[in-house]
Amino acid sequence: MIGPNRRNVGLQLTIAQFVCLVCAIWFQAFVESAAAPADSSFLLILAFRIATAAWFAAIYFCFSWLILSKNLKPVDAKLQQQHAESLLTVNELIRTRDAIIFGLAKLAESRDPDTGQHLERISLYSVRMASALRNHPKYKSLVDAEFVRMIGISSVLHDIGKVGVEDRILLKKGRLTPDERVEMQHHPEIGSDCIRQIERRLGNSDFLTMAREIAMSHHERWDGTGYPKGLAQTEIPLAARIVAIADVYDALVSKRIYKDAMPHIDCVQNIGDKAGTQFDPDLIDVFLTIHEQFRDISTRFCDESIDFSDAKPDLITAKQTVPSVVGKEHGGKD
Ligand SMILES: [Fe+2]
Repeated sequence: MIGPNRRNVGLQLTIAQFVCLVCAIWFQAFVESAAAPADSSFLLILAFRIATAAWFAAIYFCFSWLILSKNLKPVDAKLQQQHAESLLTVNELIRTRDAIIFGLAKLAESRDPDTGQHLERISLYSVRMASALRNHPKYKSLVDAEFVRMIGISSVLHDIGKVGVEDRILLKKGRLTPDERVEMQHHPEIGSDCIRQIERRLGNSDFLTMAREIAMSHHERWDGTGYPKGLAQTEIPLAARIVAIADVYDALVSKRIYKDAMPHIDCVQNIGDKAGTQFDPDLIDVFLTIHEQFRDISTRFCDESIDFSDAKPDLITAKQTVPSVVGKEHGGKD
């Protein structure tokens, strides 16, 4: 449908065209016949007519330009304003979505009282790793600003499947039995299924795909001995490989009811030693260049405020052994 503004512009252009045409006819009828009478040479008359046509075409072009620029500027400004308002709305929706997702993940995580600010730290570690990968020759084509933004929020859903694990296992203060460990190791599939259900309702989305991959594969290992599927190397989605490092670092560096916090430098050594076995060696190279950022995050979001006073005394005294592979040796609770 043609709007009033377009109709107005069309009318003005038609008037301009009409005025130019009348002027050209007048010019030809009176001026040309005086300057180049009919008995002039053919070439002179032709040259005069070409010059006349060019002159009035140029005048018409100037008229058109003035009319269009005068009328379209307000339209451009209005479109720009609408575009800016749309961007604001989209940004607001994204912020709202991210806040709701974080709130739900936090709610799920709250069942396990000794994880403190685990989600905040995982998000920041993952973002720092992904940001560093943007300069890595092997990964810079896979990791862009959108990837970094998405991993910042989708990583908080990595353990959402723990809502499907029974309290007697999730909240157990000691080591899990083999059967309990098997039960606990279902949490990646539970989380992935949950996110898949959301995808079915909403349709495909890069964010949900990444969240599902992280939930499913953050306990896989580079050498194929992880769970739940035993994926190896690049079969494991990149985002999940990043979160795996973040998750283990956080488990090592944080105080838990069954262990003390490991010093940062020992965590770095521990993780570095698992390059090529548990972790993607290229990602470990990146981790080793930015590990001080991990230390800063863990310091900023430390869980010193967590109160372990209601823990069983025998567990506190027996907590000194730090597992070499967190998440498996102590029963897979991280
Ligand atoms: Fe997990």
